[in-house]
Amino acid sequence: MIKVRKLEYEDVVGARFSVIKLNRNLQTVYAYHLGDTLIDTGQSNSRNEVYHFFSDYKITKIILTHRHEDHTGNAAYLSEKWKVPVYAHPIAGEVLRKGYKVSPLGKYINGEVDKVNTLPIYDGQKIDIGVCTLEAIFTPGHTTDHISFYSKEKGWLFSGDLYVADRIKYFGVFESMKQQIESLKKLCQLEFEILFCSHNPKLKDGRFRLQTKLNDLEDFYGIVLEFHQKGYGFEEILNETGRKENKLYRFFTRGTFDSTNMVKSVLKDEGILKS
Ligand SMILES: [Fe+2]
Repeated sequence: MIKVRKLEYEDVVGARFSVIKLNRNLQTVYAYHLGDTLIDTGQSNSRNEVYHFFSDYKITKIILTHRHEDHTGNAAYLSEKWKVPVYAHPIAGEVLRKGYKVSPLGKYINGEVDKVNTLPIYDGQKIDIGVCTLEAIFTPGHTTDHISFYSKEKGWLFSGDLYVADRIKYFGVFESMKQQIESLKKLCQLEFEILFCSHNPKLKDGRFRLQTKLNDLEDFYGIVLEFHQKGYGFEEILNETGRKENKLYRFFTRGTFDSTNMVKSVLKDEGILKS
């Protein structure tokens, strides 16, 4: 079952698509409409809901924050249905052109991603969306192809998956802590109040929330290096950061997402641990 919830803020309409299976909410993701543009497309398991929700809105293009299946799952379908182009960072574009295999768990929760040809968006590019101009800001770290979209005049930041929470507990094996910190620093220089995060939007104090996450990750980074030098193991270091591994979560994701990945990422970024 898919649950849909609407979020409205000035010119922005967000739709939250939640995948409910076995009486549990397994995934919740937002897609946002503003002006003549759709930002991200939800998971393919919610295809009918996404299509029907946004069919009443004027959409002349789709822009993607990054490659992940909960953001790109309907890009090919909607592009074909509405005859509109899809834009993404060139790295995401290459991945989506060739197509990629979603993990078995990702497929169960979100569904697959169809191949799609995209047009490139580059760092600093200005995108006219009708009601304002969005600036594309390259913000790697969560993935290598992640873009955020910023409107200075509106005070909005569409941050994809770079925020998610003040204090995160899990990392994908593909994530880079160092790059996330650099990307967060870049975004914290901007003037904005509203954080249209793809999983956890904040309609006030958006920049403060992003700064809070940055502070937490910088603290985390320092603790990892300090306790690694003292000879602590991955999970012991994790405990020093006030986090604990969720073994059930690790089992179900086969280690693709777990807390220890956060520690390993710092050590990889420092060249201490092999990628
Ligand atoms: Fe993601």
